[in-house]
Amino acid sequence: MDGELSGKVIFLTGGAQGIGRECAIAYARAGATVAIADINPDVAQATVADDLRDAGLALQCDVADAASVQAAISQTLARCGRLDAIHNNAAISGPSKPLHETTGEQWDQLFAVNVKSIYHTTLHGLAALKASRGCILSTASMVGALGQENHAAYVATKGALIALTKAMALDYAPFGIRVNALSPAAVWTPLLRQWVQDQPNPVATEDFLNHIHALGFCPEGDVVADVAVFLLSARARFITGVTLPVSGGAELGYRRLGTK
Ligand SMILES: NC(=O)c1ccc[n+]([C@@H]2O[C@H](COP(=O)([O-])OP(=O)(O)OC[C@H]3O[C@@H](n4cnc5c(N)ncnc54)[C@H](O)[C@@H]3O)[C@@H](O)[C@H]2O)c1
Repeated sequence: MDGELSGKVIFLTGGAQGIGRECAIAYARAGATVAIADINPDVAQATVADDLRDAGLALQCDVADAASVQAAISQTLARCGRLDAIHNNAAISGPSKPLHETTGEQWDQLFAVNVKSIYHTTLHGLAALKASRGCILSTASMVGALGQENHAAYVATKGALIALTKAMALDYAPFGIRVNALSPAAVWTPLLRQWVQDQPNPVATEDFLNHIHALGFCPEGDVVADVAVFLLSARARFITGVTLPVSGGAELGYRRLGTK
């Protein structure tokens, strides 16, 4: 996919580690300049230096904070002169609880980081995207469509994101802006490893995660990154309002019982 995003500037939230880091690497390989906006600036800086070979910038940003997002997008525009895509990837996943055991503070924090963040990036990035006829991409989750036990507030944020993707696609299509989302089932990242540890039986949960995917294993983030490059590239120029599963068939509902 070398050159597919040549000359593009991509503002990527939560790109310091996990799926975001894999996307940053794939975007840079495809020719883009990547602005990694992350709450953890040291890890973001290390990703830019080590993985992007300085073909990007690391920005300290709390996506839940409107002023912080505004500052990070302003810095990106000042340094790069344009903006072709916003990838809303940053999220938190805890607590792993049913709704009545979730505190009001936890609910508010999950919605601030996972959903209101998209309001912030859109508010402050839309003018630049109108100028470039760019794209918005968000990292959803299969649980936002299917549900998941013991994870009510997180599931609700991902359901909201899927609905928002459709509404935004309609609102911004007249400006030539495409709005899509990616929907992984499970992907090995620090976030997933933490979630596994929060389960009553982490060993059984890890085994379960390998087996929910019809293709037979829980992947690394590269599988998501390849699809992200596609959705931001001209190859996807007639795709908007879609939440694309990148899930090895997990949503088909069949547990994999063995290899043939
Ligand atoms: N890992 C999975 O199995 C999985 C499955 C489905 C969907 N997802 C989604 O993929 C995305 C990435 O998940 P991951 O597993 O790579 O997570 P991760 O925890 O490994 O990485 C998340 C990144 O977001 C950053 N971040 C967290 N809060 C932030 C904030 N307030 N402002 C800015 N940056 C912030 C973190 O510093 C980190 O770099 C999330 O949207 C998640 O919901 C993950």
